[in-house]
Amino acid sequence: MSDLKIEQYEYIEKLKRIVKNNYLETPSFCVVTFGCQMNAKDSEKLAGILELVGFREIIDENAADIVIFNTCTVRENANNRLYGRIGQLKTSFYKNENKIIGICGCMMQEKSEVEYVKKKYPYVKLIFGTFNLFKFAEILYEVISKDKKVYEVIDKPIEIVENLPMKNKYSFKCGVNIMYGCNNFCSYCIVPYVRGRERSRNADDIIDEIKLHIKNGVKEIMLLGQNVNSYGNDLKDEKCSFKDILLRVSNIEGLYRLRFMTSHPKDFSYDLIDVIKKSKTICKHIHLPVQSGSNKILNSMNRKYTREHYLDIINHIKSEIENISITTDIIVGYPTETEDDFNDTIDLIKQVEFDSVFTFKYSKREGTKAALMDGHIADDIVSKRFDRLLEVVREIADKKTKQYIGIESEALIEDIEIDKKMFVGRLDNNYLVYFPMSKKNIGDVVRVRLKEAHNFYFVGEEIV
Ligand code: 5AD
Ligand code: SF4
Repeated sequence: MSDLKIEQYEYIEKLKRIVKNNYLETPSFCVVTFGCQMNAKDSEKLAGILELVGFREIIDENAADIVIFNTCTVRENANNRLYGRIGQLKTSFYKNENKIIGICGCMMQEKSEVEYVKKKYPYVKLIFGTFNLFKFAEILYEVISKDKKVYEVIDKPIEIVENLPMKNKYSFKCGVNIMYGCNNFCSYCIVPYVRGRERSRNADDIIDEIKLHIKNGVKEIMLLGQNVNSYGNDLKDEKCSFKDILLRVSNIEGLYRLRFMTSHPKDFSYDLIDVIKKSKTICKHIHLPVQSGSNKILNSMNRKYTREHYLDIINHIKSEIENISITTDIIVGYPTETEDDFNDTIDLIKQVEFDSVFTFKYSKREGTKAALMDGHIADDIVSKRFDRLLEVVREIADKKTKQYIGIESEALIEDIEIDKKMFVGRLDNNYLVYFPMSKKNIGDVVRVRLKEAHNFYFVGEEIV
């Protein structure tokens, strides 16, 4: 066991004693997550520690004794949303002076944001970043036992500390990090600055974690990384590529479904297609962010592939795997984007006929290369392009989903839509299907027939 891990378990024990002695009733916590799947996973780690030391989870951040905001900084609106929420907590803080408000995550890796919090929100008691999240128990111990503020952000990763507690948000599905960080430095993106360089986890640690999840009832696993295709490049003691780990995980006994996110077109190897095609567990869905359909813009974004290469990958995937669902990310209004560049993006989207497109207006992030470029696009032009893009995406989704009507498929029940008394299930291809509730439960797998298409989801019926 690593020394860092032993140390953290010692702090967990100390915290348990303090929580038992300091609170008359079981204290509560709330972790508020912004951003991507990686952050959601980190929040599960925080929740795991808080629950182990004696807090219970609630969803009301005003009532909770501890509130941790796990932040995102990929686009500016995430920052604005955070400060709104922290401002609103001021009243509840002054009503309960033992309340602990903390902020962690990507935004706290930016010095200017930490300074801003210090100045504007003095009632925030703890701050930490992405590289020392594993030290959460220690930081919390310092705050509670010494009744002081702890602001600790470091600017480099230390080591990957395995096997700390985690509390899965869902009993039936969960994300598993296979790597951390990103080496790509796309010109618009802040992620490499706040999450550091790529660090792959050892394959055996990944496998052990997944086996444990399956033993605990998890049916669907999502392998997580900013750029999963370069998994293993940095491993020193073993040779294991993304294809290798995908194959190993897909064959773990008891696993029902396997997903992965996110792939990068420049590293997407064609032999993956065959692995996906032949596997019973790997879902027939690939999320492959293209960002733009213009070679000029792709080059300026430092994406390291061309539109032609991207289309070639897509053609291979489609010709090998029938009915595979393909989704992407698009940034609208990247600096210097002309009407022609944008039309190239629209054209690519029409050619590929994506099942779904995550659309983003370009957001200027200080410290990135794109922020220093000339040619930033006026908001009204970006908005017009954005609306045009949504219209095209909707038309394609409409056409695509109609093709699925009448099809039978398996759905993993994820939720209940209370008003309508409907189950919400997820299909292998990542679409959601709503169908009338039966005696089944969340986490069960049922066969459904798709009856109505509603752009991005279906209404169906259970086949009994
Ligand atoms: N502005 C807009 N969108 C961005 N993304 C990343 N950085 C930015 C930015 N500065 C988008 C990309 C990426 C997704 C996770 O977020 O499309 O794939
Ligand atoms: Fe950001 Fe590019 Fe890395 Fe994705 S691959 S996290 S967009 S730098």
